[in-house]
Amino acid sequence: MTATVIDGKAFAATVRTKVAEHVTRLKEVHGITPGLAVVLLGEDPASQVYVRSKGKMTVEVGMNSFEHKLDAQTSEAELLALIAKLNADPDVHGILVQLPLPGHLDSDLVINSIDPAKDVDGFHVSNVGLLGTGQKSMVPCTPLGCLMMLRDHHGSLSGMNAVVVGRSNIVGKPMAQLLLGDSCTVTIAHSRTKDLPAVVRQADIVVAAVGRPQMIPGDWIKPGATVIDVGINRIDKPEGGTRLVGDADYDSCAAVAGAITPVPGGVGPMTIACLLANTVTACSRANGLKEPEGLTA
Ligand code: GUN
Repeated sequence: MTATVIDGKAFAATVRTKVAEHVTRLKEVHGITPGLAVVLLGEDPASQVYVRSKGKMTVEVGMNSFEHKLDAQTSEAELLALIAKLNADPDVHGILVQLPLPGHLDSDLVINSIDPAKDVDGFHVSNVGLLGTGQKSMVPCTPLGCLMMLRDHHGSLSGMNAVVVGRSNIVGKPMAQLLLGDSCTVTIAHSRTKDLPAVVRQADIVVAAVGRPQMIPGDWIKPGATVIDVGINRIDKPEGGTRLVGDADYDSCAAVAGAITPVPGGVGPMTIACLLANTVTACSRANGLKEPEGLTA
């Protein structure tokens, strides 16, 4: 079998179009422009690229982008004061503090100081608890993007066996909650899982989110299964230079799977699209308006 390639780049463009339509309605009918504030500390090149890209796409869908670039040495008190200001600002509907934070800062404390209603990353403990109890919350962007692609490809996920490889707070755990919410039978596998190949072979849906290049080979995949690859790893090419690969070994998995997301061009573009979706959702909720359809879990 040769897998259907799930085109995350194209799907993300349709999500952004829906977000832009909703933004237009908020502006024209209600006189409200959704706003996203992104806070970046320090000069980490990868974080700078992400933040620039987020800002550009925020503006492209018609929203306001507020970028706060702070020194890596910024104190916790200064950062908390900025977040308090953004929490109180009615023009800011979403707040994202780019992670990882410099080592002298307590990430949990910082994230939990964001107003949960503006926590477009879905990392605040209140949102984690709401998601875990099946209540309306802000949902982390990468798992939300994976869920949207799975629903689009399969329709109903009810009764499917899903194995999430990786137990991070950002992807693995919320992904498992979302799949459970869609009535999958869910296993979270991790580095201590016994006989990982046998566990993965049970899966109708495999979500690979471990951050280890090409660690899942095709012979772990049940024929016809769907592989959602969250990994973005840069590796050296034998002929020199580098290339991006996922956590799944693409060629061998694509030969067995029913569907697979490529790297790049799969999950990655969906993450920013879902950040924009979360911002427009947060703005709608803050103003007591109907939420955009198809853009939330
Ligand atoms: N750093 C890498 N990915 C993310 C993300 O999704 N959110 C935040 N806040 N920081 C990140």
